[in-house]
Amino acid sequence: MTSYDCLHVEDLTAGYGGPPVIQDVCLGVDKGQIAVVAGPNGAGKSTLVKTIVGHLRCTGGQVRVGGEDVTNHSPERIARGRVGYVPQNQDVFGTMSVVENLEIGGYLLKKREVAGRIEEVLGLFPALAAMRHRTVGRLSGGERKMVAIGRVLMLRPAVLVLDEPTAGLSVALTVDLFEKYLPELAATGVGILLVEQKATEALRNADWGYILVSGQVHVSESAATILSRPDLGEVFLGGSASLSADADLTN
Ligand SMILES: Nc1ncnc2c1ncn2[C@@H]1O[C@H](COP(=O)(O)OP(=O)(O)OP(=O)(O)O)[C@@H](O)[C@H]1O
Ligand SMILES: [Mg+2]
Repeated sequence: MTSYDCLHVEDLTAGYGGPPVIQDVCLGVDKGQIAVVAGPNGAGKSTLVKTIVGHLRCTGGQVRVGGEDVTNHSPERIARGRVGYVPQNQDVFGTMSVVENLEIGGYLLKKREVAGRIEEVLGLFPALAAMRHRTVGRLSGGERKMVAIGRVLMLRPAVLVLDEPTAGLSVALTVDLFEKYLPELAATGVGILLVEQKATEALRNADWGYILVSGQVHVSESAATILSRPDLGEVFLGGSASLSADADLTN
């Protein structure tokens, strides 16, 4: 199969002790590219990304980052290897300020680098800069999500893995994320793997798309091709549950 220079996932199989939840998943992202993973609820999208970032052990397959094998490494080691992960569920410290949350995100940086990096990250999200000293628990859901993304950016990830970042975001912020923030990051060479329910919108600003059904990749096509295939439309236009697990969409 193709070898991806940023994030390369080959034949990945994982689960929670019972039968595998994801099986033989192959996908990848090159530097500066955005790949979207879509699919019905329960398809295994979060399981896939948890396995990639080391939160879940795989029982088969391989994960490589920048060519280096990181399969089943600890989450800390994978983060040090410059993989940023924004989980589906909010991952911020509600009793701390925006800046304090970013400081925590920069825990692996040299101390003298932290303040400067915070300013760089706040520069990406001007709305957050204006509320830098606000307690995060008092921010809106969308603003908190920006903090979660900003926190992960502190370590200058080479790969960014986002699990449904737009859940709970306003339409305006969702559009900003897809059309501005993520493309700008990708333009700096970061490879982005984006799990997203709003797949049509996400794919419009992406390079490649994967549709995961029942733990397996059923479609792996360029974003433009997926968008031009009306037969795939129902998969990601909200009618995802109607896709039969054994439907063959690969031809
Ligand atoms: N911690 C867990 N223990 C056992 N089973 C789990 C666990 N987390 C998820 N599962 C199961 O694994 C399957 C895939 O779940 P997963 O969360 O990966 O799906 P998803 O595609 O991310 O769904 P959604 O779109 O709703 O976020 C589901 O059947 C789910 O019930
Ligand atoms: Mg999920």
